[in-house]
Amino acid sequence: MIDQFDDQGRLRHLLTLDGLTRDQITAILDRAEAFLRPPGDLPAWSEALKGLSVANLFFEPSTRTRASFELAGKRLGADVLNLDISTSSRAKGESLIDTIYTLEAMQCDVFVVRDAQAGVPEFIAENVEDHVRVLNAGESHVNHPTQGLLDTMTIRHHKPDFGSLVITVLGDVRHSRVARSLAHALDALGVAELRLVAPDNLLPDENDFPGAMITSDADRGVTDADVVMALRIQKERMTESDIPDPQEYHRRFGLDGERLRLAKADAIVMHPGPMNRGVEIASKVADGPQSVIREQVTNGVAVRMAVLEAVAGLPTESPEDYAE
Ligand code: NCD
Repeated sequence: MIDQFDDQGRLRHLLTLDGLTRDQITAILDRAEAFLRPPGDLPAWSEALKGLSVANLFFEPSTRTRASFELAGKRLGADVLNLDISTSSRAKGESLIDTIYTLEAMQCDVFVVRDAQAGVPEFIAENVEDHVRVLNAGESHVNHPTQGLLDTMTIRHHKPDFGSLVITVLGDVRHSRVARSLAHALDALGVAELRLVAPDNLLPDENDFPGAMITSDADRGVTDADVVMALRIQKERMTESDIPDPQEYHRRFGLDGERLRLAKADAIVMHPGPMNRGVEIASKVADGPQSVIREQVTNGVAVRMAVLEAVAGLPTESPEDYAE
C-alpha cells in the first residue's frame, strides 16, 4: 500500500481510511468544521487553492460526491475540471493511465477518482508525478474515504462520545464501500459497537469488519442503537437473481417508523444517498425529526474542502482567512 502521508506527516493522497489514526481523522474533521456556515449565510469561500487544477474523474454515476467535490474545489478558488466520461477517450478505448497522463500534462494537480474496479485510485497514485494528488471518491465496494469522514463528522455533531455509541448499518453491507470506510473511521475513533444488518445473501465477510456484530435480524440489530444508517441495495454489483423483491425487503429490512422505535429515543438516522424511498427507508423516517441525511450532504462539502486543502499542503491554522 502506498504511503498516504509524506515524511512530514502531511496528507498526500486519500485512498482509504484504513490505518488512519484517531488524531489524523480528528484533524481533518476539526478543519472541516471551519468551513460550515449557518443556513442562509453565504458558503465559506477563499482563494487558498487559486491556480490549482482539480480533475473530477467519475467512471461511475454520482450526484452528491461529484457535486460536492466540485463545489469544494471552487469554494477554495481552484479550477475544477469535470471530465465527461461518456464523451472522453476512455470510452474510445484509451487506457485510464493515458487519460491521467494527458491531464497531468495539462498541469492537473489533483485527481478525484471514482471507479467500479478495486485498486484504481492506488494504481493512479503510484503512477503520477510526485506533486500530483489522488483522492478516492468511491472505489468498487472497498473504499469511500471522504464519505466515511463526512459520516463520522455528522455522528460527532450529535453524539461526540464514540466510546459509548452503538452504530447500526442496515442494508446491502456486502457491496457497500460506505460501510467499509465508516467502519475504518469508527475503528480509529474507538466506537463501542458496530452492528451490520443485512439479508443472508447481502451479509459481508466478517474479515472485512473485524469486531463488528453481524446479523440478519433487523429488529435485533436496531434495538437500542444510537445511530442507524440505512444503505441502498447496490444492484449494479449484483446479478439479477440476487436482487431482492423491494416490498419483501422493505418489510424485513427497511427502516420504517416501527423499526426505528426499537432504537434509542434520541437515535439519529443516516443514509449516504441516493435513497430508494419505500425500500431501504420509509419516507416518513427519511424526512422525520431524527433524520440527519441532509446534514450529511452539507458536511460532505466541508470535509472535501478540508481534504483538498490538506493535500494541497496549505497551512491550516487560520480559519479567519475564509470569508464569512
Ligand atoms: C454511495 C456510493 O456511491 O458509494 N453514494 C454516495 O457516494 N453518497 C452509496 C450508494 O451509491 O448507494
